[in-house]
Amino acid sequence: MSNIVLQVEDLHTSFFTRAGEVKAVDGVSFYVREGETFGIVGESGCGKSVTGLSILRLLPEPAGQVVGGKIIMEGKSLLELNPKQMRAYRGKMISMILQDPMSSLNPVYTIGDQIGESVRLHQDLPENMVEAEVIDALRLLRIPSPEMRAREYPFQLSGGMRQRAVGAIAMSCRPRLLIADEPTTALDATIQAQYIALFEDIQEKTNVAIIFITHDFGVVARICDRVGVMYAGKIVETASTRDIFKNPKHPYTKALIQSVPQLDKKDERLFSIEGQPPSLLRLPKGCRFYPRCTVSMDICKEQEPPEVKIGENRSVSCWRVK
Ligand SMILES: Nc1ncnc2c1ncn2[C@@H]1O[C@H](COP(=O)(O)OP(=O)(O)O)[C@@H](O)[C@H]1O
Ligand SMILES: [Mg+2]
Repeated sequence: MSNIVLQVEDLHTSFFTRAGEVKAVDGVSFYVREGETFGIVGESGCGKSVTGLSILRLLPEPAGQVVGGKIIMEGKSLLELNPKQMRAYRGKMISMILQDPMSSLNPVYTIGDQIGESVRLHQDLPENMVEAEVIDALRLLRIPSPEMRAREYPFQLSGGMRQRAVGAIAMSCRPRLLIADEPTTALDATIQAQYIALFEDIQEKTNVAIIFITHDFGVVARICDRVGVMYAGKIVETASTRDIFKNPKHPYTKALIQSVPQLDKKDERLFSIEGQPPSLLRLPKGCRFYPRCTVSMDICKEQEPPEVKIGENRSVSCWRVK
């Protein structure tokens, strides 16, 4: 098996607000291998983005802080790096496509300038080679006529092409790990499918490890090798994509999978999960999913379920699963 690029162990990230400590990430562990895509899936507000931002140490400080755990990248403990060392890691080793990619392009610079800036910052290249790198990055993202596109401004590109330009910036420093935070959410179905195919293509060419954040199990099915299902700051189930679709264990996982629209069942009403995730300021005592669970038992209200390993690469936190 290929090398583990990133290992996250018992990560805790909190926001210290006037109302109290918001435990946005509350004991999350997972790993990603070279050439592998690990999905983090869950409803909005479950801590997916905060997990990604914690890895990059891009939390809005001082309110947001990693308060516990380990983040190990190829043997190096990222939480022990000083800000300068971390800056060198960001971009060079790890890059992230943010949830709102449109706002990560600067409207007043050309696409080529913006990719070039990232190349200069992260690769030690003579100036006359920067342009070739820019064109390579645009080609990697399959942007047609890259020489011409490099001279254009963001407003001259379609939504799908802008999204690719953001991908080109993220990949231009040849990272070992790419964190993609809901990069397809704003795209329509056809463009989304093309963009996902592109990620596979990039991974094949570069062997980059990808953490793909999404609220949509349909996207997980298309791109992820393994997945962690996140609920209220915790990963409640981890499995390979194949196993999780074949035999989901956690009631939350089952509900999320049921709520994926199926193209061949147009008339059926879409299933949605009753209620909302709990406030991370006032978490329920027992299982966090208990108030919304349709198969809960007495113990679920009282005690948090432990994480149970049920296979080589599978674990679940649910009192129903032994
Ligand atoms: N800047 C912030 N200040 C306080 N709390 C925050 C902040 N950003 C996020 N949170 C808390 O962290 C939780 C997880 O957020 P996030 O990781 O963005 O969720 P998502 O799974 O939708 O990406 C939110 O529900 C919110 O309670
Ligand atoms: Mg998010």
